[in-house]
Amino acid sequence: MNIENMLILKNKFKYHKDVKNKLLKIINEAPFPLDESNNKTHTKGGDNHSFYKHDWNDCLNKNRQWYKLTGKKISDELIAMLKKINYDDAVVHEMWFQQYKLNDFHGWHLHGRNFTGVYYVDFSEKLKQKGTEFINIGNPKNKFVLDVEEGDIIIFPSNIWHRSPKIKSNSIKAIISYNIESIINENWKPYTRNT
Ligand SMILES: [Fe+2]
Repeated sequence: MNIENMLILKNKFKYHKDVKNKLLKIINEAPFPLDESNNKTHTKGGDNHSFYKHDWNDCLNKNRQWYKLTGKKISDELIAMLKKINYDDAVVHEMWFQQYKLNDFHGWHLHGRNFTGVYYVDFSEKLKQKGTEFINIGNPKNKFVLDVEEGDIIIFPSNIWHRSPKIKSNSIKAIISYNIESIINENWKPYTRNT
């Protein structure tokens, strides 16, 4: 199977212009994860990632300030996107932000749940990046970079390997990511839908 044919949904997040600046201000002021706070960076020397800051450790907390501003709006958009392709409903479970600075990256990885995705909150053209990269592990030569711009919101199956390339400029990249469980009624039959 060609990776390009795998299911990737992309939309413009309609509230992006309204929420971007407020969202970034809150994220910038948010505390670093406690165990990594000494040097004000969450960069780890691991093989597979180097982040500037994230709140993965608190990803289920709906009382986070940025979540209160826009978490429900993002969730509603994601659920609407999945309903458009015939899912009956969906539950957005984990949601977290990640910031990348110079030389930060996230290597090839998968997520839990059955769908995941990215909302590109701060994705300046100065980064000179296209977007998330996808790979078919059955045929690693078959990979591609999804063309996205700031304000885009994407969803894809959690079992597709993907990565975020290394930042090579002084601009910061900020994204919100999420894990979603889609729901379909047990009596679903293809011929009852518009298929
Ligand atoms: Fe990811």
